[in-house]
Amino acid sequence: MPKLHSRIGTFRQLEILLAVHQTGSITGASKKLFLTQPTVSMQLKKLSVAVGVPIYDYVGRKLIFTQAGIEVINSARDVLDGMDRLEMKLLDMQGLKVGTLRLAVVTTAKYFIPHLLGDFLKHYPDIEIDFKVGNRQQIMEWFATGEDDFYVFSHPPENRKLHLHEFLPNPLIAIAQKDHPLANEKNIPLQLFADQPFLIREPGSGTRYAVERHLTQLGVEPNVRMTIESNEAIKHAVMSGLGVSILSSHTLAFGGSSGLAKLDVQHLPIMTKWYLANLQAKNLSVAAHTFLEYVKGYERENMLSQMQEKYK
Ligand code: PGA
Repeated sequence: MPKLHSRIGTFRQLEILLAVHQTGSITGASKKLFLTQPTVSMQLKKLSVAVGVPIYDYVGRKLIFTQAGIEVINSARDVLDGMDRLEMKLLDMQGLKVGTLRLAVVTTAKYFIPHLLGDFLKHYPDIEIDFKVGNRQQIMEWFATGEDDFYVFSHPPENRKLHLHEFLPNPLIAIAQKDHPLANEKNIPLQLFADQPFLIREPGSGTRYAVERHLTQLGVEPNVRMTIESNEAIKHAVMSGLGVSILSSHTLAFGGSSGLAKLDVQHLPIMTKWYLANLQAKNLSVAAHTFLEYVKGYERENMLSQMQEKYK
């Protein structure tokens, strides 16, 4: 029987395989890797022949991976991650902090994290950053691919595979148009606030999840007028008088909030917090380890909250 390593193709073929899996198509992979489509197709075929059983198939025109293909993909990821880590460790031994830090963050965190990264990169200019933004549901889907080093989000699922590090508060506050009749009121009853036309984030959003859970626990039903898939669009809709909402205070702190009033509503804000999460099964790269230590150092010095204030 031939040795396994001689059967699973070259590193380049494994890279191509992962790119096809990530993008979902030969075309997507060829764009990602700057290769022609026939090259990608041919290398994938060669890999399939080398593996010895079909690793993909077509349903109509859609490429799908077989069970064997999924196994090869999982191993390919381990192999390539391992090579990346080795490369970075060798550079680390030479005193160089290099590599790519892959972060996936929720939309509420996308305002603050770039400031943190700006400071981080002043210390480690050779680390490259790959930064993705999605809602909570997308972040959970990204776990499954295991590509990223860290995920920043609130309301972590019960998932033993995740290592969670409590990060920063993410208060969800009540907002209305600046000259809304409730803008100057104090201690507004929650029901009265929720009876106003209410603008809510899309299903899959952690903000929506927290708002619905909180209101349901208090027996209050919001008068939902619109579902909107973006914090910025909700802010503008509120400014233009379309309704009230509950959003992360971070979405107001960055990018201006003139035209908005923060309302003083009973039982609000909803105090949620962000976590910095990583998959336990994935070894931290040098870049990821350096980032985690940097964040912990900032926490020890109590500098994260100072930084939050500075950029408000
Ligand atoms: P999201 O963010 O509403 O964009 O999903 C929620 C969170 O802070 O976890």
